[in-house]
Amino acid sequence: MNRTQFLMHCGSCCAGIVGLSSLLAGCSGTKYIDASIEADELLIPSSAFLKEGSPDAYLPHIVAQNQKLEYPIVVFRSTDARYTALLMRCTHQGTELQVFGDRLQCPAHGSEFNAEGKVQNGPADVSLRKFAVTADAQHVRIKLS
Ligand code: FES
Repeated sequence: MNRTQFLMHCGSCCAGIVGLSSLLAGCSGTKYIDASIEADELLIPSSAFLKEGSPDAYLPHIVAQNQKLEYPIVVFRSTDARYTALLMRCTHQGTELQVFGDRLQCPAHGSEFNAEGKVQNGPADVSLRKFAVTADAQHVRIKLS
């Protein structure tokens, strides 16, 4: 192996490592929970936002699922009292979105939305469905209707 081949080989390895680490970073931050539905509210225990092993640290978001929901709902936590709940359905053609940090991406055609559900990149041109949220010490309640 000559010097040029060696450098090209090292460059490919580095690119692969960077790509893999960013992929893992996107996946590792998302916690999925099975939430219950009471009346027309999705009920999430407030404790679901606690980071494992850190009683005072919170996850910035979780994804709530229930078999009655056609799409999961991502819930972003800003403070104890401020949450944003968004339906993970792309407004372009209905593909289920994926969460990466504070944004949602569509695997079908690449649309991207921020944590408020607003379009950051098309082809989607409509914001995500946003739900009313109330929170107390025990639960985060998402109004489904
Ligand atoms: S379905 Fe999401 S961008 Fe097309």
